[in-house]
Amino acid sequence: MNIDIDGIAKEFGTTTALSPVSLQIPSGALVALLGPSGSGKTTLLRILGGLEFPDRGRVLFDGSDATHLSVQDRRAGFVFQSYALFRHMTVAQNIAYGLQARPRRQRPSAPQIEARVSDLLHMIRLPDIGGRYPSQLSGGQRQRVALARALAIDPRMLLLDEPFGALDAKVRKELRQNLRTIHDDTGLTTVFVTHDQDEAMALADMVVVMSMGRIEQVGHPQEIRAAPSSDFVREFIAV
Ligand SMILES: Nc1ncnc2c1ncn2[C@@H]1O[C@H](COP(=O)(O)OP(=O)(O)OP(=O)(O)O)[C@@H](O)[C@H]1O
Ligand SMILES: [Mg+2]
Repeated sequence: MNIDIDGIAKEFGTTTALSPVSLQIPSGALVALLGPSGSGKTTLLRILGGLEFPDRGRVLFDGSDATHLSVQDRRAGFVFQSYALFRHMTVAQNIAYGLQARPRRQRPSAPQIEARVSDLLHMIRLPDIGGRYPSQLSGGQRQRVALARALAIDPRMLLLDEPFGALDAKVRKELRQNLRTIHDDTGLTTVFVTHDQDEAMALADMVVVMSMGRIEQVGHPQEIRAAPSSDFVREFIAV
């Protein structure tokens, strides 16, 4: 799905979270929103997902206005930094949650849900953990389960906010690779937030450098490295 962000502005009281920003995300891209704390990354991601609404501007999905669509109708898969798995449910129940929660007519049958959960557990390379509870998993495993849960509903796009932020360096690298593979296999338009320039540069096809509610530069990692458009970008990616 193509995403078109057209002049989106957002204020919280007297804080300008997003000065009008515009950005076109081609279908199937893996995009990093990169910038320091407070630059508006999460706000932009939440506006894409329908968790927040802009004061001005529009969001278009494949050319049609999605600015006022509900969370449900956007069909976004979300992954946040804190795993946000349901503690009292097994891994399999967590992954199945979005399907189980559908109205009966749209809900797949129990065997279909079971098959889908099994496929997703294979996709995240943890085929045998369906019966465990979140407390019995490592941080990296929990984050993979969160990814599987986001994918279960067959989303139109994947939105991730610092998905690897709480993990140690080695696990982060593994999960990056896992996300890259899953992205390439599913072809889902994917937007992830990070303040880690290495992560953005290593993983994304398109990096969006943000600062103080504005987009400073958009480009392929190599382009940004070769020709940073401002002192801010040069210094931020050099850190
Ligand atoms: N619900 C809110 N109420 C008031 N101010 C908010 C709210 N959400 C965000 N802000 C403000 O908007 C600005 C952008 O915040 P945002 O969360 O988008 O930044 P961020 O780039 O994700 O930062 P971080 O890397 O720290 O997560 C900040 O100044 C923040 O304090
Ligand atoms: Mg944030």
